[in-house]
Amino acid sequence: MVLYYSASGNTEYIAKLLAKELDDECVSLLERIRNDDRSKIYSRKPFVICAPVYVCKMPTFVKRCIEHIPFRGSRKVYFVFTSGGYAGMSGSAAKGIIRRKKMQYMGHAEITMPTNHIVSNAYPPSSPEVCRTRISEAEKRIPEIAGRIKRGERLKARHVFLLEKLVILPINPLWVRFMQPSKDFYTTDKCIGCGKCSRLCPVGNIRMADRRPVWQHPCAHCMACILNCPVEAIEYGDITQSKDKYNIRKYVKL
Ligand SMILES: Cc1cc2nc3c(=O)[nH]c(=O)nc-3n(C[C@H](O)[C@H](O)[C@H](O)COP(=O)(O)O)c2cc1C
Repeated sequence: MVLYYSASGNTEYIAKLLAKELDDECVSLLERIRNDDRSKIYSRKPFVICAPVYVCKMPTFVKRCIEHIPFRGSRKVYFVFTSGGYAGMSGSAAKGIIRRKKMQYMGHAEITMPTNHIVSNAYPPSSPEVCRTRISEAEKRIPEIAGRIKRGERLKARHVFLLEKLVILPINPLWVRFMQPSKDFYTTDKCIGCGKCSRLCPVGNIRMADRRPVWQHPCAHCMACILNCPVEAIEYGDITQSKDKYNIRKYVKL
């Protein structure tokens, strides 16, 4: 069974391509995450968990969800991470979770996709040409990754050196603690009050009041609200007005 969380569609696209190649089910974790649903999941085939990378690790809300789900059937778990090019500690963090669940960690793959962290000036948005190239390069990797999973082989990704680990180790916890303010999100006059942003928020951070979204706290900075608004009415401070609101649906059909 392929399980995934995705904010702007990158991971959803990869998960669906993998599931097709594996002839397996593809299930979104969004509702489980939103509802803190801890009911068991059964799969005869290995579990393949697909997630984006948030500051060198998988998102905290995905990590918690996986920690709490009782997995039944297969004991093997693979991970596939999509990132803007640097997955950092995602693999080792995933390995720790799976070992604590007394399941078999089967390795992870890292796939570079267009960058979606639109509210940060640290990750420049990918140009349309870069988006197209990354998506098509990613598509080419699916048969090889699926082949390994079908044959029961481990997935291999780039080795993360000890020095590298020491440098990046404190960054994610600091970012999670201090760097996800939601006070700068707002809607422009284009807002139609559809509530899609609220429904897509994995941490239930967006309340609708008078048909307008109100961002509360804690925000996970996943970008699902701003990058899925059907009328592109959501902005963040003065950082996003001139930026393209990336969503993979602008490039491929999901
Ligand atoms: C909060 C946040 C942090 C991110 N951190 C990283 C990172 O550390 N390294 C990286 O290469 N990409 C990073 N990205 C980019 C995403 O991992 C990448 O665009 C991913 O494919 C998005 O997947 P999705 O569309 O399925 O949500 C970050 C994106 C967000 C929203």
